[in-house]
Amino acid sequence: MDKVRAQISAVGMYMPEQHISNHDLSEVVNTSDEWIRERTGIGERRFVSDKEANSDLSVKAIQNAFEGRDFHPEEIDLIIVATVTPDMMFPSTACIIQEKIKAKNAWGFDLSGACSGFLYALTTAAQFIQSGTHKKILVVGTDVMSSILNFEDRTTCVLFGDGAGAVLLEPAQKDDEGILDFILRSDGSGGKFLYMPGGGSLHPASHETIDQKMHYVHQDGRNVFKFAVKLMSQVSREILERNGYSTKDVSLFIPHQANMRIIRSSVERLKLSPEQVVINIDRYANTTAATIPIGLAEAFQQGRIKKGDLLLMASFGAGFTWGSLLLRWGDLGQPPGDQ
Ligand SMILES: CC(C)(COP(=O)(O)OP(=O)(O)OC[C@H]1O[C@@H](n2cnc3c(N)ncnc32)[C@H](O)[C@@H]1OP(=O)(O)O)[C@@H](O)C(=O)NCCC(=O)NCCS
Repeated sequence: MDKVRAQISAVGMYMPEQHISNHDLSEVVNTSDEWIRERTGIGERRFVSDKEANSDLSVKAIQNAFEGRDFHPEEIDLIIVATVTPDMMFPSTACIIQEKIKAKNAWGFDLSGACSGFLYALTTAAQFIQSGTHKKILVVGTDVMSSILNFEDRTTCVLFGDGAGAVLLEPAQKDDEGILDFILRSDGSGGKFLYMPGGGSLHPASHETIDQKMHYVHQDGRNVFKFAVKLMSQVSREILERNGYSTKDVSLFIPHQANMRIIRSSVERLKLSPEQVVINIDRYANTTAATIPIGLAEAFQQGRIKKGDLLLMASFGAGFTWGSLLLRWGDLGQPPGDQ
């Protein structure tokens, strides 16, 4: 074994209980169930209650990952939280989670990669496993998008939802299992198409920033759409080719869930069949950093992922940021008793 690979050994998710249908949104903004379904594939999304923050969702996703297993929080070395909607600017949500789950030996930080945040965080965590310095890392992809949506802007508020997914990363037991490869990219010139201008050091919170609705998602949907369609399939093809795989070898494709038309277009370009693809945008909308771990957790819990499966993940988001990751599911991915 030339290098230690990092393997996902537990996976969980949490969706807030409040279902928000397209009809519900049509009562606050000029839209319709028909338009949203046809243009995005979204049927409903989940929103947090007034009492829930990002870290609450994250903790529940972590607890879900360890359901039916012994969880020893003191064994966790590191917590990386991918999010654009932390509980607060600081301290990091990772520190808040660390305290809540009593992972007293872990350090942690938040990572801002928008919709690619989970892939950025997973590959960052993998480096600590591969270097041999860390053995158990929690990687969380989590967002409370409802906290930064402008419910007077129909072009953005219908697209997003809240949710969290979490994985445990450990050294793989076999050299052909775990994260096989990844490609991560950024292009800052795309920043102007999807951003939240207020609340940072450029435009600190003030009456003016509130009046100008700067603390919300701003988006040029058409441009984001155009780049997402092209780059997500391109980076997926690239990672398969450079590892000598074809799309036939892929057991499951877990794409970021931004728009059903973006997913379908990637699937068509890659020539994947419907059984090879995880889709839940119809139920959860775009949960930003959470879509991929939620898709992974749901597929695993539905029995769609087995030992030896080749998983392909791909993302695209604000930044622009995008990427792909190839993973061979291994022994550690089985529930206790099945190993
Ligand atoms: C936002 C998005 C769904 C818009 O779909 P589209 O087909 O490009 O629609 P357009 O922006 O061309 O708008 C078409 C019309 O629908 C209207 N419209 C926009 N949102 C609407 C809504 N929620 N309900 C009803 N009508 C709406 C527009 O105002 C426009 O009307 P007009 O022609 O009278 O000006 C699509 O561009 C998209 O999904 N982009 C990517 C977004 C994304 O994935 N972001 C996250 C990336 S991680």
